[in-house]
Amino acid sequence: MWPQRDGNAHLAILLCAMLSVGSGYQAQAITITTPEYSLVKSVQEDVLISVDFECHGTPTIKWAFMSARERRDIVVWQPGLSANISEYYEDRLETHTNGSITLLDLRLTDSGYYVVTVSEQTGSSKDAAVILKVKEVLYEDLQYLAVFATVLGAIAGFLMVSMWLLDKVYWRVKEWRQRSQLPENEETELQSLQSTDDQP
Ligand SMILES: *[C@@H]1O[C@H](CO)[C@@H](O)[C@H](O)[C@H]1NC(C)=O
Ligand SMILES: *[C@@H]1O[C@H](CO)[C@@H](O)[C@H](O)[C@H]1NC(C)=O
Repeated sequence: MWPQRDGNAHLAILLCAMLSVGSGYQAQAITITTPEYSLVKSVQEDVLISVDFECHGTPTIKWAFMSARERRDIVVWQPGLSANISEYYEDRLETHTNGSITLLDLRLTDSGYYVVTVSEQTGSSKDAAVILKVKEVLYEDLQYLAVFATVLGAIAGFLMVSMWLLDKVYWRVKEWRQRSQLPENEETELQSLQSTDDQP
């Protein structure tokens, strides 16, 4: 008796599945569209987890989060009524009439699966999932490096300018000393050069 009932149940499920596949756009069918199946964002960014659905009557839209570590409800609402947002997502979640949600100020722990369930009053429902990966951004390290590089650059520039100035001053002083101390020598040198030039 039991095995037969099991068999019948399987047959019924199979028939239902075939019917619902065959009648994709029929009256009762709910369709959920997800333009992006997987998203990658950085910590503190916002993300629009975009879906659009079609169904009949007033639907109930429910979002839940799933990861290897935990599972939690995000929000439940009916279009036109106020959304019941769970405590964890208070102040950082926006709902849209097409069923999409915007999650603000992302955290590393927001990485995981976002499952949306659209249910009709008749009891039928459909799910869709979007994967979100939240990356860490090492802002502080980058800032530290940038400051370090700027300081090094400034020191190098200062040293170069100082050396150039010192060099200039050194040569000026040397020139001035030569001119003031040995004016005749220069002339005699020139004369001796000229005289050597004159010789064939
Ligand atoms: C759903 O609505 C949001 C906000 O209006 C929009 O940005 C998004 O593109 C829509 N998604 C789809 C799949 O139409
Ligand atoms: C909101 O949802 C929680 C469970 O997620 C439930 O316990 C609570 O009663 C709901 N509140 C309203 C106003 O529907």
